[in-house]
Amino acid sequence: MRDFDPAAAFGPAVAARDAESSRGDEQVAVDLLASLAGGDSALEFAIGTGRIALPLAARGVRVDGIELSSDMVDQLRTRPGGADLDVLVGDMTTTTTNRKYPLVYLVFNTIFNLLTQDAQVRCFENAARHLDDDGVFLVEAAVPSAWLPANQYVNAEEVEPSYVVLDVCRYDPATQILDENHVRLDAAGVHLGPISCRLAWPSELDLMARLAGLRLVDRWGGWEKERYTGEGLHVSVYGRRTD
Ligand SMILES: C[S@@+](CC[C@H](N)C(=O)[O-])C[C@H]1O[C@@H](n2cnc3c(N)ncnc32)[C@H](O)[C@@H]1O
Repeated sequence: MRDFDPAAAFGPAVAARDAESSRGDEQVAVDLLASLAGGDSALEFAIGTGRIALPLAARGVRVDGIELSSDMVDQLRTRPGGADLDVLVGDMTTTTTNRKYPLVYLVFNTIFNLLTQDAQVRCFENAARHLDDDGVFLVEAAVPSAWLPANQYVNAEEVEPSYVVLDVCRYDPATQILDENHVRLDAAGVHLGPISCRLAWPSELDLMARLAGLRLVDRWGGWEKERYTGEGLHVSVYGRRTD
């Protein structure tokens, strides 16, 4: 997508909508994250409006965050408990909190928001910098094939009498970039929601981890430690390499 600006993709309107929405996996995600944090502390990369961080903090875990969009952080600040979190506005590939954690996590496919392989590797390196000796980096993302019925497609996401939402996608296998536009058509007109992602298979993420001095410790097919089947999504946990 020409002229796509990742920094502008999560502006005020998206942030306001995000703060109102949930995905349905928050409870099970927080259960697993709280156990990995050992009741201590965690750092969320791309904390957004606190969908996961706020319920995790409510469990007694100190949750810090790094987030690119100040609009998302503004929304986080308005939510109960949101003003108490230490959040830095910055890029998760480079920004540092100067603290170490038993858990750093990056969820909701957000590793894909980094649009080059280099940036994704730098993200693993930055996570490794923030881990204490026994710390783990958890990544939750889709298995790319789950998102790619074809290299181009239009999916009817919502079809209602008064509006429709279409997901218009084009994937470039050479760059692994998926360009996507959520198009809402209603009586007020046409509303566009563009986003580009760089998809990466779990095996590529594992090699990125190795470059960052980490290794795969666990991989599940969901937050409840379901068996990983290579379909749908994966929850992957990386710890320090000892070999
Ligand atoms: C899909 S939202 C996920 C938010 C939150 N983690 C959640 O699970 O609800 C993606 C978030 O990643 C943030 N983001 C994208 N690129 C980033 C980067 N390079 N550094 C930090 N945050 C980034 C966006 O601003 C947005 O808030």
